[in-house]
Amino acid sequence: MIVDQFGRQFRNLRLSLTAACNYACTYCVPDGKRLLAASSELSAQQMIRALKLLIDTAGIDKLRITGGEPLLSPKFDELLPAITQMGLSDISITTNGQLVPRKARLIIDSGIQRINLSLDTLNAEKFRSIARSGDLATVLRGIEILQEAGIRLKINMVPMRNQNHDQILPLLEYCLSRNIELRFIELMNMGHLQGSPLYRQQFFGMHDILGQIAQNYEYVRTDAPFDSTAVRFEIPGRGFFGIIANESEPFCKSCTRIRLSSNGELYGCLSSAKSYPMTQLLELPNPIAMAKLQDVLYGALADKQTLGFSGEVTVMKFIGG
Ligand code: 5AD
Repeated sequence: MIVDQFGRQFRNLRLSLTAACNYACTYCVPDGKRLLAASSELSAQQMIRALKLLIDTAGIDKLRITGGEPLLSPKFDELLPAITQMGLSDISITTNGQLVPRKARLIIDSGIQRINLSLDTLNAEKFRSIARSGDLATVLRGIEILQEAGIRLKINMVPMRNQNHDQILPLLEYCLSRNIELRFIELMNMGHLQGSPLYRQQFFGMHDILGQIAQNYEYVRTDAPFDSTAVRFEIPGRGFFGIIANESEPFCKSCTRIRLSSNGELYGCLSSAKSYPMTQLLELPNPIAMAKLQDVLYGALADKQTLGFSGEVTVMKFIGG
């Protein structure tokens, strides 16, 4: 088993199907840019092989399918049924929801039980100014379809001062009334936000989020699982919400995540530039591939931060969630 000085292991894999996205959210993509697919994406078959190797070598038992926007990838349709046959204890998808109505049948038939959906506002105009694309009504329809099918949903919101912080209460009420757990993600200091005054101007942290919520609700802090990134709260009689407090309460010490980008690079930490190519390793016979992968995993585990996220580089946009 591969364990570091904090007892951390890799349990949780984020698999990015593509770096491409049909949104260009202001906190993720610089003005005028769009997220495109990497030129050398792994094929679905290569991803399946990589997954099996990681499950066997690292002891991965939870998988999150991400992007870019994973539902955009033609590989999604082939991968989803294969992934659900792998015996993992937990599989979920992070999506912006725009293609959910079109992919609903496939998702429901795959037996996936959990989905995280990104939604930063319930105001259609604001939606377009943050996502710079897409359509709010389509996302809301997608949410309804998934809920009707009994899929458990979490909604991710990135609150930003003077952008959508007035949406904290409306989104919370929307989620509470539908039994959806809302996750507020503190704005991360990454990508083009790094070194930009925009980051400090827009950062709206846990303290301020709770201040808003306290205007309408009474909440109590509850326990979260050991390797959870979220601080969880209960509004008695109504439901739960969480805050991913990257800045206010960093969770690096209990992080068990590893990420595989769509072009086959392994990342041990979202805030590390270091990556380890997996593509060639996929060609090797199993015992050799596993031995090589083990060395890689030790390196990747050592890339994890000891205390807090340092926002060194950007990988979130192409290996998000
Ligand atoms: N800060 C916080 N959250 C971010 N996300 C993407 N970029 C950032 C950032 N800079 C969020 C998306 C999505 C999730 C995968 O990560 O909104 O919900």
